[in-house]
Amino acid sequence: MKGIVLAGGAGTRLHPITRGVSKQLMPVYDKPMIYYPLSVLMLADIREILIITVPDEKASFERLLGDGSDLGVSFTYVVQEAPRGIAEALLIGADHIGDGPVALILGDNIFHGHGFGALLRSCVADFVRGQRGATLFGYPVRDPERYGVCVVDGAGRLVDIVEKPERAPTNLAVTGLYLYDAQAVGIAGRLSPSDRGELEITDVNRAYLAQDEARLIDLGRGCAWLDTGTPDSLLEAGQYVQVLEHRQGVRIACLEEIALDRGFIDAAACAALGRAQRSAYGDYVQAVALARDQQSESRGASTALVG
Ligand code: TTP
Repeated sequence: MKGIVLAGGAGTRLHPITRGVSKQLMPVYDKPMIYYPLSVLMLADIREILIITVPDEKASFERLLGDGSDLGVSFTYVVQEAPRGIAEALLIGADHIGDGPVALILGDNIFHGHGFGALLRSCVADFVRGQRGATLFGYPVRDPERYGVCVVDGAGRLVDIVEKPERAPTNLAVTGLYLYDAQAVGIAGRLSPSDRGELEITDVNRAYLAQDEARLIDLGRGCAWLDTGTPDSLLEAGQYVQVLEHRQGVRIACLEEIALDRGFIDAAACAALGRAQRSAYGDYVQAVALARDQQSESRGASTALVG
């Protein structure tokens, strides 16, 4: 399954911060925002990832992330000329997607929770085995009016999605992670722009619903879904990450650690990535690699990392 991170947009709600730099390059505590959605795709074992940026910032993302080979993945880049809507990602990414399924994630969305990676891997595996349709993820929020909102029946099945309603029918927002089968590019190609002049992702989701092929997974309160579009939500996301990392001593969305855990790279490669970053983050990456190497050593398979 291919992956796309949509990291364009205007970021107007963060002006003047985002007048000079893309929102998705802003820090969320100890790492750039785009690390968080990238970590989600990597946790799902998705290794071919297209990153869509605004024209002026493509080089900055490339400088930050490179071609992904250090992490055992592939990053490619393409620009969205203007913020013409989230669904345009499916058209811009059509060549990358080919005729298979795709996971699209918004570059400013943060997901975190116990069991989230395993849940995603099982959803992705269903698509790889040929499952049809769309899988969407709902999350209960205090202010559903800001989002696409799920309408569900008594059994919790998705029956409709309403975009930014004045009175929300439920508190379940549609999050910015969408898993689609191979129909998605065709569906996006048939959309007309909304009143805002955008190709709306809600219209793609409603098209799947009309075919009775959209399913909803309610992430529930055991998981965190944060967006980072306003100064308050950006700060709160950073505080959330800081509190958990301080308390637990493990880092959220550390791409090097995920690459190691998923077997994309070995401990020696991970340690080298840590050494290249002279910061507490780099020290952490090295410590993770060392711990892994010691585990291997106890099984007689050390890569002689120390030194
Ligand atoms: P939004 O938060 O809806 O838009 P934005 O990021 O431009 O911010 P603002 O509303 O403050 O102007 O976008 C959600 C995500 O999708 C964000 O990561 C940007 C991305 N996006 C694009 O890349 N292209 C687009 O055309 C749109 C609408 C969003």
